[in-house]
Amino acid sequence: MDKIVIEGGTPLNGTVKMSGAKNAVLPILAATLLTQGRNIIKGVPKVRDVATMIKLLEDLGAKLESYSNEKIVIDTSKADNPEAPYDLVSTMRASCLVLGPLLARLGKARVSLPGGCAIGERPIDLHIKGLEAMGAKITLEQGYVQGKADRLKGIQFYFDTVSVTGTANLIMAAVLAEGETILENAAKEPEVVFLADILNQVGAKISGHGTDIITIQGTSSLKPIECTIFPDRIETGTFMIAAAITKGDVTIENCNPQHVEPITLKLQEAQADVEISKNKIRVKGKDIIDSVNAKTHPYPGFPTDIQAQFMALMTLAQGQSIIVETVFENRFMHVAELKRMGADISLDGHTAIIKGVKSLSGAPLMATDLRASASLVLAAVAAKGQSIISRVYHIDRGYVGIEKKLSKLGAQIRRIK
Ligand code: UD1
Repeated sequence: MDKIVIEGGTPLNGTVKMSGAKNAVLPILAATLLTQGRNIIKGVPKVRDVATMIKLLEDLGAKLESYSNEKIVIDTSKADNPEAPYDLVSTMRASCLVLGPLLARLGKARVSLPGGCAIGERPIDLHIKGLEAMGAKITLEQGYVQGKADRLKGIQFYFDTVSVTGTANLIMAAVLAEGETILENAAKEPEVVFLADILNQVGAKISGHGTDIITIQGTSSLKPIECTIFPDRIETGTFMIAAAITKGDVTIENCNPQHVEPITLKLQEAQADVEISKNKIRVKGKDIIDSVNAKTHPYPGFPTDIQAQFMALMTLAQGQSIIVETVFENRFMHVAELKRMGADISLDGHTAIIKGVKSLSGAPLMATDLRASASLVLAAVAAKGQSIISRVYHIDRGYVGIEKKLSKLGAQIRRIK
C-alpha cells in the first residue's frame, strides 16, 4: 500500500491548476444511464471514485469506448443489468446514484445498501422514500435495495434533511417519470445545478435548480450527454488553505471563485490575502493566522468537505477557534491524528475547540477518510520534520495527484510504495 512522505516546513509558492469536480462527474456518469447511446464527458478528474463509477457502469452493461486525456466516451445503449454489487457500492457510497436512473430506465434495480462509513451512518432513506412515493415497490433483501416500477410518476416531495445525492437521484428518476415532480428543501450545491443544466441540454425540463424548490416535467427520452466538468471546489479550497497554512503565495488556476466564497471569507478573516480574478485565485499567507470560528452547512454555507482542512489551519492560529460540524455526525476522525502532531483540540459532541499552537511536528499518520487525509497532508506540509501518511488510498479517491501538485509548489513530498 502506498504511503506519502512529507518533510514539512517549506512555504508553498507558484501556480497550480485545478482538476474537474469529482462530485460533479459522478452524478453525470450515473445520468448516462438515462440515455441510449454515446455519452462524451470531458474534464474528468483521474481519481479512484471515477474509476469505480466506470466499473459499475460497465457491470451494468455500458461500454466504455475510451478514457484518456480526461475524456470519457461511454455507450449506454445496452446497459440492461439492474444490479449494482456490494463490492463496488461498499467502496464508494455515491454508487447509490444509479438507483434512480436504473428504475427510470429498466423499471427495476438491485443496488447494494452502502452501509455506514468513517464519517457517520449516512443512510439513504430519503432516496428510497422519494422513489417509493414515485411508485417504485422497494424491498430490502440480503443487504440490497430491490426496486420495481412501471413508469415512475411525478410527485411533490419534501427532503427532511438537505441531501446532495438524494436530490440528484430524485432529479434523475423524475426526468423520465410521468408528469410533474416538485422537490422541496432540495440541495443547492453547484454539482446538483450542473446535473440539472446538463440534463436540460439533452431534453429534460428542469427548473428552479440552485434554489430549494426544483420542478421537473417528465419526458419520454433524453439524448446522450456531451459536457465538460467544471473545476473541483473542494480541491480549490484545499489548495487555498495549503497556501495559508504554509504562509506561502499560491495562484490557483482553472477554478470558480464563486463556488468557494465561504472559504475565501474565512481565510480573509484569518488574515490571509485572497485576490480573485475571473477563474483564478491567489492566496498569500501571513505570518500570523487569526483564529476564526466556522460551522458547516449545506451549500452555500461553509462546506463540510473543507472542515478538516480548515481545522488543520486553525491548529496554527493565534488564539482559540470553534468549529461546529452540522452535516455529518462523526466527522472528526482527523482530530486524533492532528493531536499526535501537537495540535491542541478538544471535542464536545459536534463541536471542536482548537487552541492554536506555535508549530506542529511531523509524525507517522493514518488517513481515515478522503477529506481527513487532505487535512493531514496540509498539517504535515506545514509541520516541522517528517510525516509518513499511510492508507493514502483514501486521498486517491478524490484528489488528482495531490503530491505532484504540492511538489510543484515546492513541498518536500513523495509517494512510496
Ligand atoms: C455529498 C458529497 C459529499 C459531501 C456531502 C455533504 C457526493 C458524491 N458526495 O454526499 O462529498 O460531504 O454531500 O455536502 O456528492 N441523509 C439522510 N438520509 C438520506 C440522505 C442523507 O439522513 O437519505 C443525511 C446524511 O446522513 C448526512 C446529511 O443528510 O448527515 C447530508 O448527506 P448528503 O447530502 O446526502 O451527502 P452525500 O450526498 O452522501
